[in-house]
Amino acid sequence: MSMSLELRSPLHERAGIEIPEEAAHLNKPFNGTICSNKGDEYVIQNNIIDLLGEIPPSLSWAQSTNHWKVTAALYEDIWRKRSLSILTGEEFPIDKEKELLIEWLDPKAGKLYLDIGCSTALYGRLVKRAQPDCRVVAIDFSTQMLEEARLKAEADQTDLFLLRADAHELPFFGTTFDGLMMGGTLNELTDPLKVLYESRRVIKKDGTFFMMHLIKSGAWYVRLLQDSAEFSGLKFWTVEESNQLFERAGFSVEDQLAKGVVCFSKLKPA
Ligand SMILES: C[S@@+](CC[C@H](N)C(=O)[O-])C[C@H]1O[C@@H](n2cnc3c(N)ncnc32)[C@H](O)[C@@H]1O
Repeated sequence: MSMSLELRSPLHERAGIEIPEEAAHLNKPFNGTICSNKGDEYVIQNNIIDLLGEIPPSLSWAQSTNHWKVTAALYEDIWRKRSLSILTGEEFPIDKEKELLIEWLDPKAGKLYLDIGCSTALYGRLVKRAQPDCRVVAIDFSTQMLEEARLKAEADQTDLFLLRADAHELPFFGTTFDGLMMGGTLNELTDPLKVLYESRRVIKKDGTFFMMHLIKSGAWYVRLLQDSAEFSGLKFWTVEESNQLFERAGFSVEDQLAKGVVCFSKLKPA
């Protein structure tokens, strides 16, 4: 079985780009240029495959913080490991989230998974650790986050394909992935429905989408905070509104767990 990765050119819908397996071996620097058969070229620098180049993304305030080196450096160890306990209002260690991710996604050997808006690729690394014989692609549009993901994956001795791309235009052909995961990114996206449609396009018919997102709080004082956060570009939905969004994009909700403002969903293509 080929262990290389096939991307779809961001410029030419029918053109493929072959990424060598070595790009995912993060313990060895991989640099070079790749191109589609139409001739559009992209740089791989220190294993990070960059499909966006110099194009400055138009960012909301919340999105722009992900492009700061300091956010990327502190994100996982300072915030992410404690965030769910803070947001659910009860002890919610990262191991509990990991258990749910692995139980619902159920990664299998030889299969291909995508971590969308990966930041430091916490989910992607957990999946690869649980099933070392699967392949994982982690995408984000922040170079700073992807660099931090590379350092963490290298320290864990985890192989990942790291891709700088926009989730609104996933650079893959249809039905490429056996599973998708998205942790906290839905609330930050400019057009969440577009990203869900793209997710539906690239997932296989029998695939699973593990989603963690934040929902509207029932407590008025938290709602006040969430309302002000909406000015910075964040979006919140009730569980019912979230489910309508998933269903509009062609997913059905197979399982769901909501705690405090955190909601985990197991989505299947409808
Ligand atoms: C809340 S963080 C994700 C955290 C991570 N999934 C986790 O579970 O720890 C959101 C991430 O999504 C990325 N992001 C936001 N909009 C994006 C887009 N349109 N395309 C790709 N990445 C995006 C941000 O750069 C940021 O790293």
